[in-house]
Amino acid sequence: MAELKDRKILLGVTGGIAAYKALELTRLLALEGARVRVIMTRSGMEFVQPLSFQVLSGQPVCTHLFDLETESRIGHIEVATEAEVAVIAPATANIIGKLAHGIGDDYLTTALLACTAPKIICPAMNVNMFENQAVQENLAKLRSWGFHQVGPDAGDLACGVQGLGRLAPVDEIVEKIRQVLTPQSLQGKQVLVTAGPTREALDPVRHLTNPSSGKMGYALARVAHRRGAEVTLVSGPTFLNSPYGVKEIRVTTAKEMHQAVVEKMVQVDVVVMAAAVSDYRPKVMAAGKIKKSDDNESLELERTEDILFRLGELKNNQILVGFAAETENLLENAKEKLQQKNLDFIVANDLTVDGAGFGSDTNEVTILWPGGEVENLPLESKEVIAAHIWNRVERLWQT
Ligand code: CTP
Repeated sequence: MAELKDRKILLGVTGGIAAYKALELTRLLALEGARVRVIMTRSGMEFVQPLSFQVLSGQPVCTHLFDLETESRIGHIEVATEAEVAVIAPATANIIGKLAHGIGDDYLTTALLACTAPKIICPAMNVNMFENQAVQENLAKLRSWGFHQVGPDAGDLACGVQGLGRLAPVDEIVEKIRQVLTPQSLQGKQVLVTAGPTREALDPVRHLTNPSSGKMGYALARVAHRRGAEVTLVSGPTFLNSPYGVKEIRVTTAKEMHQAVVEKMVQVDVVVMAAAVSDYRPKVMAAGKIKKSDDNESLELERTEDILFRLGELKNNQILVGFAAETENLLENAKEKLQQKNLDFIVANDLTVDGAGFGSDTNEVTILWPGGEVENLPLESKEVIAAHIWNRVERLWQT
């Protein structure tokens, strides 16, 4: 993904059992093209070998401040000043204490003192240590200075007890890095996104639905959060993990989605309806499993709520964006929906195009505007498409 390619990341690894997870963090960052410079403390090296980080990052690992050879090749001040973001994962109580008190007695602490880039601290330690007043006050001090904190999570700890102290999941740390590196162009905005299909039950074991995976809506939610928006995601049933930092409301039916969205609409600045809402539901839901029989071959349906149409009626100052999923007459159908539903723009999806629409990680869309302008966007990942959509929403606020 574009946000991490060629970005310079300083990764500080300190001495905790979770140091092995920093290897995976390095691998994921390097996979996305980031330039990761690892600094290890002496106790960090007791848990994992610098060589492993060197192989995964493709760069020499900084360890000893007074090592003449390393210092002449990569000075600690250079390492500190070239970084665009510094991440300390895992961060022990010791490094947290040193940072909160301005101590610089090894490579990592001196580099961090000289580093003016945003810093992300990812604590991992025993629960009692984490809850210790000194550690809590040190962390509060760091946060008040602008440090970002990710985790710790609760769960089984290496010391055999349960509680707060596990290193945050590595993908959450990556997402935080992405967010810190992204311009906060949606800061202060309240955003509502819908995603996924809805399910309309026939009986307790069957339902009407569609193959929407939710990927487009989740990408929209992730990208908006990265840009600093406060995001609510109303999602139908999907197999996707909740996006980090996003408030998720899970629903099943069109009726539930309608209720959740209309309730939230008044509090938000923009709604993007990416959900594939079922247009019909069975008129009655059978209490028990419907048995097969020759006189039971048709199904009586009724229309569900057209949520977006209703939002178009309720619209006040909000920006309203819809999708149009089509298999024929893409532009005509999308234009009709744009007007009927009172939208600011509509994102039209030709479901017959390879790599576009339901289930895929990519999409190819056309954006239609009320003034008649039509924009064809090339096939891109759903995250890139999401970025294009938010760029256009931001542009509307600027005009
Ligand atoms: N939509 C909605 N409520 C519905 C159906 C659709 O809010 N009951 C929204 C979708 O989230 C999408 C837009 O309306 O943003 C267009 O959805 P689409 O399925 O393409 O069109 P429909 O309006 O359902 O019309 P048709 O099925 O006839 O194409």
